[in-house]
Amino acid sequence: MTKILFVCLGNICRSPLAEAIFNHKIRQYGLESHFFADSAGTSNYHVGDRPDPRTIRVAGSRKVPIAHLGRQLSPDDQHHFHHILVMDGSNLRDAIARFGAHPEGLRLMRDFEPGGQGLHVPDPYYGDMRDFEACFDILDNAMEHFIAFLKERHLDT
Ligand code: 4NP
Repeated sequence: MTKILFVCLGNICRSPLAEAIFNHKIRQYGLESHFFADSAGTSNYHVGDRPDPRTIRVAGSRKVPIAHLGRQLSPDDQHHFHHILVMDGSNLRDAIARFGAHPEGLRLMRDFEPGGQGLHVPDPYYGDMRDFEACFDILDNAMEHFIAFLKERHLDT
């Protein structure tokens, strides 16, 4: 079982949405037995909280089930997950600080998108529903490329 962790700052907008989109696609591809996904925040601001209501609304409008309670990234996560995908450069710096290292599988989410190297998934928290819609579209596209990478790396298909 290959384990994937999505990371943002608060763990109520981008990373739980990424986790939900990943799980939805993996179910559609019939690959649930191969991959496990979770999400976490670099901060402790929203530990135990449900995703932001706007995150829940955009997931619902796209028919993507979402269920997660906020948790903070733990130093141990670097040993339990094969791939740890962060949303932006500050998440990357904060994750490295929390881990005390840069584990091999730690990457920016959009690095898997053709031409997306170094690009961020913008934080929609201080925005409106249009920013959440745009966030969904960015994650949905990057996720297709990430899943293609996972299939090639971890499955003999
Ligand atoms: P996220 O968005 O990192 O995508 O979950 C944020 C959520 C909460 C806060 C900042 C960003 N906050 O400052 O509480």
